[in-house]
Amino acid sequence: MTFSTGRAALFGSSLLAAMMVVPAWAAPSGEQPAVAQSLAPALMPLPSSVTFSGGALPLSEGFAVTWGHPPSAMLRAAAGRFLRRADALAGRVLPVAERPVDSTAGPVSLRIDAGLDAGWLSTRAKEDYRLVVGSDGVRLTASGPDGVLHGLATLTQLIVRDENGPKIGFATIADHPRFVWRGIMIDTSRHFVTVETIKRQIDAMEMLKLNVLHLHLSDGTGFRVESRVLPELTAKGSHGQYYTQAQIRDLVAYAADRGIRIVPEFDLPGHALAVLLAHPELAATHPVDPEPKNKNTAALDPTLPATLRLVRRLYGEMGGLFPDAYFHAGGDEVEPDEWVKNPKIVAWMNVHGDTTPQALQAGFTVQVQKILAAQGKVMVGWDEVSEAAIPSDVVVDVWRSSKFIASATAGHHPVIVSAGYYLDLLQPAGQHYLVDPYDPAANGVTREQADRLLKKGMRPDLVNAFLKEPAPPPLTGEQKAFVLGGEAPLWAELVTDEMLDARIWPRAAAIAERFWSPAEVRDVDDMYRRLAVVNAELQITGLQAEANRWRMAARLSPGAVDPVMVLAGATVPLRNYNMNRYVGRHGRRLDEIGEVASPDPAPALRFSMLVTRYVSGDHAVAPALRRQLVAWRDNDAAFAPVASVRGLSEARVTSRHLAVIAQAGLRALDGKPTLSDAEKEIFDQEDAAINSSADVSGSSGGPASLPPAGLMIAAEPAVRKLLGQQ
Ligand code: ACM
Repeated sequence: MTFSTGRAALFGSSLLAAMMVVPAWAAPSGEQPAVAQSLAPALMPLPSSVTFSGGALPLSEGFAVTWGHPPSAMLRAAAGRFLRRADALAGRVLPVAERPVDSTAGPVSLRIDAGLDAGWLSTRAKEDYRLVVGSDGVRLTASGPDGVLHGLATLTQLIVRDENGPKIGFATIADHPRFVWRGIMIDTSRHFVTVETIKRQIDAMEMLKLNVLHLHLSDGTGFRVESRVLPELTAKGSHGQYYTQAQIRDLVAYAADRGIRIVPEFDLPGHALAVLLAHPELAATHPVDPEPKNKNTAALDPTLPATLRLVRRLYGEMGGLFPDAYFHAGGDEVEPDEWVKNPKIVAWMNVHGDTTPQALQAGFTVQVQKILAAQGKVMVGWDEVSEAAIPSDVVVDVWRSSKFIASATAGHHPVIVSAGYYLDLLQPAGQHYLVDPYDPAANGVTREQADRLLKKGMRPDLVNAFLKEPAPPPLTGEQKAFVLGGEAPLWAELVTDEMLDARIWPRAAAIAERFWSPAEVRDVDDMYRRLAVVNAELQITGLQAEANRWRMAARLSPGAVDPVMVLAGATVPLRNYNMNRYVGRHGRRLDEIGEVASPDPAPALRFSMLVTRYVSGDHAVAPALRRQLVAWRDNDAAFAPVASVRGLSEARVTSRHLAVIAQAGLRALDGKPTLSDAEKEIFDQEDAAINSSADVSGSSGGPASLPPAGLMIAAEPAVRKLLGQQ
């Protein structure tokens, strides 16, 4: 995988981000405790209303569930999952028959009353619930099945542990979501994702009250669903890696059981190489190169009647396989040259009065919308489709700049906001967390960043699309009503199956809160405090994010995993597609320490929060700071003997830099905040890496500032703070 085979707008797509040179987690504010987790439950997403009233029920005997009405099979299964998760969290390991009969506690009564909901598994679903925990047990009341799922998710998070073991505190919660569309998107084309891995994400989504799984199922690199109508698509375009129709039905049912709709995406007319390998006669450019430098570019010729016939057959079949009312038809990043360099297409455009490629695409979109509408489907398209007149019921998936939220809602298009939530940018959770779906100025590139991109030769029309300036005015109430919600996409150029859990979670949990909780819930430090707990709960109940990170570290260094994990815990991977650039330049397999590192490393996060407390006068945290700095300083000696293997050797420099930076931090704690010239140079190199990774418009430090392992020392800005330099 090289940078050039990454998405065409790699630069673009991230431009997106409201960029920060210093990561959000490195600059915490507020007075939240940073060391010990409080025993208060960590609810995420935070409910709209919650009151804790003191008192608690012991959980030594688990729950006994009763229903107001006979439950459906789906609700019975949901209660079963809840009981298994509660067991996993409470730590009860004895089978029922072997539990002590003389226990005074007994199981906690859980009474569930749920209404029926004709809108279940649609954007009209009733999702509200009310949860009361008191001395007589737990009462969960919901208008529909979704409310039961959400209430059980909250109840799971209410389980805490104190000196007497697991318990559940008295609470009264009334809750409903802010947005009806709360999704993640997984790219299964760039790297195939197994059914088992997708199911783990669905389980985690249920815990975070996310309700849409958007699967990106075709792209230049692969077509991933068995077609019985067009079997050549997987025969020629999947490398044998695709989902059978039986697997898709199983996945759809699995998700539905958890209140989650699967929205499929078959991306056309751009990103079409995998389709064109089976149908080269439909290509805009001939001959079709099966191994181009950029696999995103190849596009369909939209002027051919056969192209629309293929779309009709494919979408017809896939629309039946995926029952959801919404169908994502892609529409992003059509390379204009694909069309305007083909004289036949240009002649067709002249005859039909299409003066621009955008107009040609709009005509194609109109036809696709008709094909989908004839099946009763609502078309979704990336925001490029909104650049020309198309029917207003086409849902616009905003990704390049938040300004398209304003333009699309002004045109009465329902909107899904993906801009600001791109997980593959490897930005910290706190950055995504502050992006509000209603804010049309939240995300995109500044004029200055745009100028840098233009200088690098990026197409002016593309740069313009990513530009956030001039900021549109705030949305009117009428415009807001068109915003369905948002999605957090994970493009998978650099994400293998074993990396997927950790690239989605826990960051998607913070984004889930943005989509669910009231807009005023915006305290980043408090979010991180709760995120640490929620992340642990996700692992306890089945997510493999942390286990897979450990496995990857162990594969690199089976006899000495700790030094690899300690280094990974102090570092973050390059952000904003700089890792893609790095891979393009240096080549890389996706099994190195840069893949073990996470965008929100818990030790570095904790350290940064402690430093904030220390510099604001709380010197009681000094011993904890010292312990961490000593661990980082001494890690280099443990890392050096294992650093000869491929995948670790490039991190030698980072490990040495970490030791030097930690040593300087220790001196600062001793009241000697000075740096030698050699040390200063190391701090400056790390700053250059952070700066060069700060936005997708390119580095301020140049390519030389990309560190050799693609890793930045996350703790460096905090140590600078200790040194009084920030
Ligand atoms: C996209 O990121 N190309 C939608």
